Amino acid sequence: MSNMRFKDKVVVVIGGNSGIGLSSAKAFAAEGGTVVITGRDPKTLEAAAREVGEGTLALRSDVSSLADQDALIEAVRAKHGRIDVLFVNAGIGTFAPVRGVTTELWDQVHDVNLRGAFFAAQKALALMGRGGSIVFTGSIGSVMRAPGNVIYAAAKAGLRAVARIMACELVEEGIRVNVVSPGATETPLINRNLDMPPEAVQALREMMINNTPMKRMGNPDETARAVLFLASDEASFITGVDLFVDGGVAGL
Ligand SMILES: NC(=O)c1ccc[n+]([C@@H]2O[C@H](COP(=O)([O-])OP(=O)(O)OC[C@H]3O[C@@H](n4cnc5c(N)ncnc54)[C@H](OP(=O)(O)O)[C@@H]3O)[C@@H](O)[C@H]2O)c1
Repeated sequence: MSNMRFKDKVVVVIGGNSGIGLSSAKAFAAEGGTVVITGRDPKTLEAAAREVGEGTLALRSDVSSLADQDALIEAVRAKHGRIDVLFVNAGIGTFAPVRGVTTELWDQVHDVNLRGAFFAAQKALALMGRGGSIVFTGSIGSVMRAPGNVIYAAAKAGLRAVARIMACELVEEGIRVNVVSPGATETPLINRNLDMPPEAVQALREMMINNTPMKRMGNPDETARAVLFLASDEASFITGVDLFVDGGVAGL
């Protein structure tokens, strides 16, 4: 199989300016892909586009806004006319015990991680055809016993269900749909989204490493390799799977 698996392919990475999304966007471009990245932060978007490489289109788009999503699809249609690979990766994290969950917190996370992710894929279908591939970023959180993780876990478990149903509905159109579910991975997410003091973040990191059979955090490039595999024609007979990249948590 060629090491330019994405030559002549238009690849859209929703949430491509940080962490797993940025690692994946760089890897798609390194293998010949014409890459579009999205995110909310114009500064990191601009820097990420430079890192991904010449010709990268960086579009500010909030996945929780359906108007932004419509504008994104129109911009990709105008520039490239189609989407071959869609990587729906945008996500935020939060922790709250069941009794502490508010509707605001629930909606804030679900609007991005589940509702936003679903509509990103639904809207992109207008530009996708036979041979297309969609990959969602799930999480080990969707299957783990983790007190305090109810909001995030429910969103990611919902996303897994979304992917399976989409895979069923699209199989005859020749569009594959899969999930990559990372375990604890060293990205800005843990510091950015949890609103926790540094000591608590450090304790959380240690707890996650302890719970991981390989006794370390993953690296976003390790997740990106799984994303690229499922997105590529190498995975031509694979649809509807949830591939855990988690140092053995789900499998052992
Ligand atoms: N790191 C882990 O341990 C881990 C484990 C399991 C699953 N995951 C999942 O992996 C995915 C990537 O996370 P990461 O760890 O790489 O974290 P990250 O570095 O914080 O990246 C998150 C990405 O999502 C984007 N994003 C967040 N909210 C958005 C919104 N409303 N609209 C558009 N883009 C938005 C961010 O861009 P802006 O900031 O510019 O909006 C950024 O590109 C997420 O779905 C996360 O749930 C991570």
